[in-house]
Order: sequence, then structure tokens, then C-alpha cells
Amino acid sequence: MIYNKTGKWGLKLPAVSLGLWHNFGSEDSFDNARRVLSHAFDKGITHFDLANNYGPIYGSAEETLGKVLKSDLYGHRDELVISTKAGYDMWPGPYGDGGSRKYLISSLDQSLKRMGLEYVDIFYHHRPDPETPIEESMMALDQIVRSGKALYVGISNYHPKEAKEAMQILKELGTPCLIHQAKYNMFERWIETEGLLDALEDYGVGLIAFSPLAQGLLTDRYLNGIPEGSRITHSKFLTEAALNEKMAVIKELNNLATKGLGMGLSELALRWILRDKRVTSVLVGASSVEQLDKNMSIADGKELPADAIAKIDKILANG
Ligand SMILES: NC(=O)c1ccc[n+]([C@@H]2O[C@H](COP(=O)([O-])OP(=O)(O)OC[C@H]3O[C@@H](n4cnc5c(N)ncnc54)[C@H](OP(=O)(O)O)[C@@H]3O)[C@@H](O)[C@H]2O)c1
Repeated sequence: MIYNKTGKWGLKLPAVSLGLWHNFGSEDSFDNARRVLSHAFDKGITHFDLANNYGPIYGSAEETLGKVLKSDLYGHRDELVISTKAGYDMWPGPYGDGGSRKYLISSLDQSLKRMGLEYVDIFYHHRPDPETPIEESMMALDQIVRSGKALYVGISNYHPKEAKEAMQILKELGTPCLIHQAKYNMFERWIETEGLLDALEDYGVGLIAFSPLAQGLLTDRYLNGIPEGSRITHSKFLTEAALNEKMAVIKELNNLATKGLGMGLSELALRWILRDKRVTSVLVGASSVEQLDKNMSIADGKELPADAIAKIDKILANG
């Protein structure tokens, strides 16, 4: 595994990190979740990413991690970077959603209990809340670090204008922003076009790219139909319509990967993201050890040739 500096800061993250959004909830197989997590750590994936509402049911991915920590990994706590977040809906009423100090601090207390931890390494505000001044959310993050419940803080899904405001406030408070977590893959390039990467670079903040495989679309998962148990069959976040809309481009990209470059489509998709040195880590999901192994194969630092990057741009532009 390769470890990259997070922006200008001293914390290094693995080039491939593992997220527990899907596949680690109470409705999923605990044995499989335990296998994937232990395998990930054995292979050098030192960073696991969570949020209060990962499951289903909400909170249960944190409980799964807590159980695996207890049985297998707690002795390695200082070799792990564990993150969690709050910002989306978590519990009923006005204090279980958004960006208030009330929500962020009480949510982190609940997350720590579910995971059996005294602190997380990174705590994120999961999304900007139009009803709460950014100042209030950032003051809560500052307080969280000062109280020892998180070592670092980050923001997620903040577009450049809000991100700059948040990073500036955190800087002035003396708890600088470590990292931004944003969706980034061949199909979703707003962080390039809206200038988020440039803004993060100015502040020395790292970028971790979530859904780098477009939830499985940028892999061989759906090339021959929709497999039983695949994300499209059970998650509202990935639809058959999205697959149909992208199928022609997916096939072209797959041809380029397999016939032109001798690699799988997932490998091409992940290497493409890491072509930009401002990206600290790709944050993948995986429903099996086999998928994770494929995704980790990119952690050898090999770069894509420039002509392959140009061909990808052309395929995406025509699609
Ligand atoms: N901050 C935010 O708002 C936010 C939002 C979304 C996600 N995230 C974070 O990002 C993490 C990753 O997101 P994601 O799960 O959407 O990432 P992703 O890597 O784009 O998609 C993961 C899914 O793709 C399929 N897959 C992965 N590797 C594969 C391979 N080598 N071959 C074939 N199929 C493969 C699996 O689908 P099957 O399940 O069908 O096997 C897997 O569940 C989340 O767990 C979470 O930590 C953050």
C-alpha cells in the first residue's frame, strides 16, 4: 500500500481507503463484513470511513465496526484512522439532522458509543446545512477537537464557496480543516470544473474521493446484466435507469481498459482518479474480499499513460 499525505498535513492515508456505507449494516452478513475489514487491514488499508447513519439500519455500520474492533482489531487502534460524520437525517425531531452544534456534538457522542471508541481520528460535517450558519457548524467541529473526541476535522459535500468559508473559519479558530470528502469519478467531475480542488490546494487541505467506481457502474459488475444481490437490486441510491443511461460509455471504457491497457475497468477508474496528485485517497466500497483485492491492485503507484487519459476524456465527452 502507498500512503499519501493529506494535503499539507502530517497525517498520511492509504491510496485506497474503505467505506462502510453499504454492506456493513445489521441487514448484511456480519461474517462477510468482518472478513472484508480484517482483510483490508492486513493488506494495509488503514483507513475506514463511516457516518452516523450508515447501515441499514442507521447506526448499525458503526456497531459492526465496533464489534470487529473488539474481536480483531482493537489492539491495532493506533495503526488505524477511523472517521465518522453527521449532517444527514439520523434521529427524529429538530436535533437529529443538519449542522447545529446540538446535533453534531450529540451525534458524535452516540457514534463513539456504537464503535466502542474514546475518539475518532477524523470527524466530518457531512453536508452544509442552509439553515445553520457555517460558523456554528465549524465552531462545533473546533470544540470536538478541543474536547479530545476527534483528532482532526473535515467537511463533505461542500461546494467551493461554502468550503472556502468553512476552511477560513476553521483556520481562524485554530483547528484547521484536514480533508474534504467529495464524490469524484469519471462521471462526476464537479470538483474539477467548479474549482474545488484548486481551493483545497490553496488551504493545504486533502481530498478523499467517494464513490470512485460510481457505485459499481465503473467496474465489470453490470457488463452482462444485473447480478443478484448487486447494489442496483437493493439500494435506492443506484438505479437501473442510471445504468442504462451510461451503458454505452461503460462498454467503451471497458474496451479501452481491457483491450487497450490490459487492466480491468475498475482499475482504470481508480488509477484515473489518482492521476491528480491533489487526491489523497480513493474511498471505495466492497461487498467481498475479491472486489477489495481488485481495487487494491492499484496501490502500486503506476501511472496511466497520458494518451489513455486523453482517450478517456474523448469517450466521456462523446458519451
Ligand atoms: N460523504 C458522503 O456523502 C458519501 C456518500 C457516499 C459514499 N461515501 C463514502 O464512500 C464510500 C464508498 O462509496 P461507494 O460504496 O459508493 O463506492 P464505490 O467504490 O464507487 O462503489 C462500491 C460498490 O461497487 C461495487 N464494486 C466495488 N469494487 C468492485 C470491483 N472491483 N468489481 C466489481 N464491483 C465492485 C460493489 O457493488 P456491489 O455491492 O453490487 O457488489 C460495491 O459495493 C462509502 O462507503 C462511504 O464511506 C460518502
